[in-house]
Amino acid sequence: MSPSEGIAKQRRVTLHMVSSLDGFIAKKDNNVSWLDGTSVYEAGVSISQEEIAAFIKTIDCYVLGSHTYEHAIELGWPYGDTPAVVVTSKELPAATKSVEFYSGDLKTLVDVKLAPRYRNIWLVGGAMLCHRFLELGLVDEISLTIAPVLLGDGLRLFGSLPEQRWNLKNVRAYKNGFVELSYSALTV
Ligand SMILES: NC(=O)c1ccc[n+]([C@@H]2O[C@H](COP(=O)([O-])OP(=O)(O)OC[C@H]3O[C@@H](n4cnc5c(N)ncnc54)[C@H](OP(=O)(O)O)[C@@H]3O)[C@@H](O)[C@H]2O)c1
Repeated sequence: MSPSEGIAKQRRVTLHMVSSLDGFIAKKDNNVSWLDGTSVYEAGVSISQEEIAAFIKTIDCYVLGSHTYEHAIELGWPYGDTPAVVVTSKELPAATKSVEFYSGDLKTLVDVKLAPRYRNIWLVGGAMLCHRFLELGLVDEISLTIAPVLLGDGLRLFGSLPEQRWNLKNVRAYKNGFVELSYSALTV
């Protein structure tokens, strides 16, 4: 294995998304009120703000598509000062100093640009970019949170992909009825 292949192997790309029960990640009008927990599941766990903050600190870099970026800015930039790479062919304003833009081959992005600098890379949407990452085999882990709601319509979680099998690593149910499913890529 060459040194660059060794570095590429150390990186971990986690695809993180929240989906409705019927497999949508956004409503047509982009309203996000469906993400507010309204259900109560007594046996579920709850996590404190401190635990969330400690977890977020472990993320070295976010990657997102331009539509997700534009929507995130509208809602209020959620990624703080953590490095974030926006994949786009357009000239967009940077939300913070920690935002960089990238256009081009996604394998080069992950293995050449990101892997030497970051280990724990979070791909946070949207559907189009995640679909492409999955197609190219660039995702090591999937963290999928299912919200207790049927949306009926909207933007589909994943488009049409060839069959891929994943290992279930963890299931966590929260008091608000959201369920987090964690998978790792099956290595054959
Ligand atoms: N529920 C959730 O967890 C969740 C998470 C994230 C986002 N969302 C929602 O999903 C929606 C956005 O998702 P989306 O699928 O429309 O867009 P997206 O994946 O965020 O962005 C797609 C855009 O990224 C750029 N791009 C550049 N190179 C690309 C490549 N190789 N592959 C794919 N895209 C590339 C293109 O825009 P250019 O024209 O700029 O090149 C493309 O149109 C928003 O409503 C957002 O709020 C939901």
